[in-house]
Amino acid sequence: MPYDADADRYDQLEYVKTGRSGLTLPRISLGIWNNFGYDRPLETQRAIIRRAFDRGVTHIDIANNYGPPPGSAESNFGTIFAQDLLPYRDELVISSKAGYRMWDGPYQDWGSRKYLLSSLDASLARTGLDYFDIFYSHRPDPETPIEETMGALASAVHAGKALYVGISNYNPEQTRAAHAALAEHKVPLLIHQPRYNMFDRHIEDGLFPVLAELGIGSIVFSPLAQGLLTNRYLDGIPQDSRAANSPFLGASNITPEYLERVRALHEIAAGRGQSLAQLALAWVLRVPEVTSALIGASSVAQLDDNLATLDAPPLTSDEIEAIEPFAVHGTGLRP
Ligand SMILES: NC(=O)c1ccc[n+]([C@@H]2O[C@H](COP(=O)([O-])OP(=O)(O)OC[C@H]3O[C@@H](n4cnc5c(N)ncnc54)[C@H](OP(=O)(O)O)[C@@H]3O)[C@@H](O)[C@H]2O)c1
Repeated sequence: MPYDADADRYDQLEYVKTGRSGLTLPRISLGIWNNFGYDRPLETQRAIIRRAFDRGVTHIDIANNYGPPPGSAESNFGTIFAQDLLPYRDELVISSKAGYRMWDGPYQDWGSRKYLLSSLDASLARTGLDYFDIFYSHRPDPETPIEETMGALASAVHAGKALYVGISNYNPEQTRAAHAALAEHKVPLLIHQPRYNMFDRHIEDGLFPVLAELGIGSIVFSPLAQGLLTNRYLDGIPQDSRAANSPFLGASNITPEYLERVRALHEIAAGRGQSLAQLALAWVLRVPEVTSALIGASSVAQLDDNLATLDAPPLTSDEIEAIEPFAVHGTGLRP
């Protein structure tokens, strides 16, 4: 069936500016790190992406290595984009990244100009896009001068292959250095993509003030701690879950301490008439420097559950205080 996007798609979500830029992002964005490789049915992927756009999710986040195998999420997205989304290109913000291993040899990863720009061309070819809206350095490279890495991002903008640039997993000092290096090329640093959720609070230690001072937006990844901050594991480990199937999450994450905290959070969510996932998303969105929460979803039902977060009012200070004893950094970390 040809795809015709929902006419009411822009009546449902909130949109905000990304830092001190003109780019607006939805408060909840969709990432395709997991659930969009060759290991999953294309029809499920298509249903999730169509539903997201129908609900006003204008931003889809990808990276060169997403799959499995690496590259397959970009290829699958390219197929779905060509069939469904091509007429809507100007309504979409599509990002990709480079930083992790993609091929053999000395130019396969990290932050050299050689790797970043060849990876960008390969990502454009896989997705079939003419440009990415945002191109990221996926991780800081301790062995490459920041001027080289940021110079490559600036070249991507000047070549018309990216409209904006971002960084991911950079600490506050590295963020300042990246911002300054890009300024030399008159390219603003649009956005930072760090991990942030109730069980990983490391960025509270200094990143937010830097983002506010420099006018950089942020899109926080794994806001549901890969599913740990949902009802997914309250009664065991479902066979189709990430903990059962992914190298990034496993049974060792489901500790008694984790279950105790997550059950308490579940109660607080129920008191607000929300799911635990919705509480977890409202919690990251309470931070003024957070532009968007970057979720994953393995089904349309999960996506809908997450987007309904925005139907409820923001958390009150009493609710934030009640959450605090259970939002413990390191919960669910593998021993
Ligand atoms: N820059 C980086 O270094 C980096 C790293 C990681 C991720 N990211 C980005 O962030 C995106 C999101 O990461 P993530 O997938 O870890 O995010 P997440 O939202 O924390 O976790 C998503 C997983 O949680 C479960 N889930 C989601 N909604 C649910 C709901 N309502 N009820 C029950 N379970 C639910 C699903 O697990 P099941 O699959 O078990 O159903 C889903 O796959 C990625 O796609 C990627 O774009 C970036």
